[in-house]
Amino acid sequence: MAEKTMTDKSMSGKVLFISGGTRGIGKAIVYEFASKGCDVAFTYASNADIANEIVADLEANYGVKSRAYKLDIMEPLTYKDVYKEFDEDFDRLDYFISNAIISGRAVVGGFAPFMRLKPKGLTNIYTATVSAFVVGAQEAAKRMELTGGGSIISMSSTGNLVYTPNYAGHGTNKAAVETMVKYAAAELGEKGIRVNAVSGGPIDTDALKAFPNYEEVKAEVVKRSPLSRMGDATDLTGACSFLCSDAASWLTGQVIVIDGATSFQ
Ligand SMILES: NC(=O)c1ccc[n+]([C@@H]2O[C@H](COP(=O)([O-])OP(=O)(O)OC[C@H]3O[C@@H](n4cnc5c(N)ncnc54)[C@H](OP(=O)(O)O)[C@@H]3O)[C@@H](O)[C@H]2O)c1
Repeated sequence: MAEKTMTDKSMSGKVLFISGGTRGIGKAIVYEFASKGCDVAFTYASNADIANEIVADLEANYGVKSRAYKLDIMEPLTYKDVYKEFDEDFDRLDYFISNAIISGRAVVGGFAPFMRLKPKGLTNIYTATVSAFVVGAQEAAKRMELTGGGSIISMSSTGNLVYTPNYAGHGTNKAAVETMVKYAAAELGEKGIRVNAVSGGPIDTDALKAFPNYEEVKAEVVKRSPLSRMGDATDLTGACSFLCSDAASWLTGQVIVIDGATSFQ
């Protein structure tokens, strides 16, 4: 992970809780917030060793407190137990980012061409994308209101704006979570809590490498973007830290698209 300047401590004393901090975009966000002095709680699904290495690295190199918890977003209500563990370690929560995503067997029948979509696969993606956001954000809001507010973000993708082969299940559920974000924003504003989505174009992570046509997608993105490259995991971190800053204090219920203009070509 690229070293950041150690002089920016603008998030000192604040606490982030993010799902899926071990890889890709989530890991990049974890490091971005830690580099600003933010304490970081994050979850993992199977990569406990990597999670522990990240915790040790953040504490040693950024001087922040960090903890990792096991979570399965296919069982959204287990968020409640994870938050109980979180409460043992942290006494406040300022930012929550719903980032984790399922892949592999869990998305069979959901990650497929239209004629091969199956209710089970689609339901799994809804559970992991929308229901997990709802429970994670509800638990976050209960804690944020104790300190007068906070910022909640759902990661989304432009697969609901641009046709992407096999992506119907994910794309429709990203559209759904963006609408859920707006409902949450409308109802949590009175608690001082802002809720937004950050929607990325294709980003070079494990999730994308799992696409059977990864090389084809990559070539198409490079061709489509006026910036002539695919997104990097760190390309979404700036929007997340901006949305959690005072500079975004009247920004809620929005979707910020970061896609190298690939959805305009
Ligand atoms: N990649 C893209 O092109 C792209 C573009 C726009 C938006 N996004 C969105 O950005 C977010 C992160 O994507 P990514 O590409 O960084 O994903 P990724 O590299 O596949 O990482 C997935 C993360 O989710 C965790 N996870 C996997 N299965 C889980 C489960 N059942 N329960 C809880 N956590 C689980 C993983 O933990 P372990 O390491 O322990 O397995 C890992 O930390 C997603 O919401 C995705 O839709 C991605």
